[in-house]
Amino acid sequence: MPTFSRSEPKLALVMVGLPARGKSYIARKLARYLRWRGMETRVCNVGMYRRELVGAQVSHSFFDPANPDGLAERMRVAQIALDDMLRWLELGGQIGILDATNSTRERRAWISKTCAERGAKVVFIETMCQDPGVIDRNVRETKLHSPDYVGVEADAAVRDFIARIAHYERAYQSVEDDEGPYVKVIDEGDKVIVHQIEGNILSHVVFFLMNLRTKRRPLWLVRHGESIFNVEDRIGGDSELSPRGHAFARSLAAFMQTRRTEEPISVWTSQLKRTLQTAQYLREEPFPNRALDEIDAGVCDGLTYAEVRRRHPEEFAARSKDKLNYRYPRGESYADVIQRLDPVIIEIERHERPILIVGHQGVLRALYAYLMDTPPRESPHLPMPLHTVLELTPNAYGCTERRFPLAC
Ligand code: SIN
Repeated sequence: MPTFSRSEPKLALVMVGLPARGKSYIARKLARYLRWRGMETRVCNVGMYRRELVGAQVSHSFFDPANPDGLAERMRVAQIALDDMLRWLELGGQIGILDATNSTRERRAWISKTCAERGAKVVFIETMCQDPGVIDRNVRETKLHSPDYVGVEADAAVRDFIARIAHYERAYQSVEDDEGPYVKVIDEGDKVIVHQIEGNILSHVVFFLMNLRTKRRPLWLVRHGESIFNVEDRIGGDSELSPRGHAFARSLAAFMQTRRTEEPISVWTSQLKRTLQTAQYLREEPFPNRALDEIDAGVCDGLTYAEVRRRHPEEFAARSKDKLNYRYPRGESYADVIQRLDPVIIEIERHERPILIVGHQGVLRALYAYLMDTPPRESPHLPMPLHTVLELTPNAYGCTERRFPLAC
């Protein structure tokens, strides 16, 4: 699979920023995106190491730069986390993301030196935000639910966390040009500054970060209603909906009425008849996108699976062996589909409205794999039944899924 060259050097993406500036959100989203693009990526969150090695419920004074015991413990934890990340890269990983404040030049110089000695290229990703509303939202949505504050009353937890931020603020130094390559994401992506960024992977990383928004809105994935080709068990093609498919399209419109809020919903379809017909009873005008067309079955387009097995036995066997990388002659593989869906993912991340995607089995499997952080190898086998709406609602760092089978 990998959709980026494996010859690029091992990367250590090192997060920088005060607490509650969205570092973990960005680190996890980026890791999910890079894994989906076929890169072995792992996030090392220093806070998790600290909880394990020192304890979860430490007071804000632990983070005071004037507390020598706290400083020594924090350095010990950071060393263990960095060493784990580098060991993982040495054992075959490709991109490590060190999720921590890394808020002083001294700390970053040590990270850069250690990574260089062990063959990893460091790029800093600094998140900056001065908006008190965003900081308050981050504290309440993520920190209050963290193991650091289990059993602590909300106001007391907020007070402690704000005191923790103040300790970091006293020592904080923003990344400067002489520290090496960096990306600065300011005010949730309103402004992005890059320095010494080059190469395919890092260009994609920057593009992804430029489009990443934090607005929470639901997203629905649904296959088109049953088509004539579905009834005949044929693959590909551009057939119309069956009568049952039309009945589903009506049920879908009724279902979406129950999910609707004030906010308009964006409806995205492929350019094929069966998705357009499925969207025809919805209140919204669909936006057809060729990138959402079903996997191109090449010479097998229009055949039944039995015909594929009979006429192209070697293709049938090759596909069963490696469904992710198998490419239909003159058609596409699942890995190709993932690559062509990249702009759709960027648009999903950028888009602020709820989105309904009326698509096809293969394409929806690939999108689902991204949204639910499923390993790419599993994506061609994900269950994606007809006449079922998948509702994905974002939570702090991922999505919660509900499935609604509709009557037709
Ligand atoms: C933590 O211990 O929670 C975070 C450590 C850091 O990133 O400075």
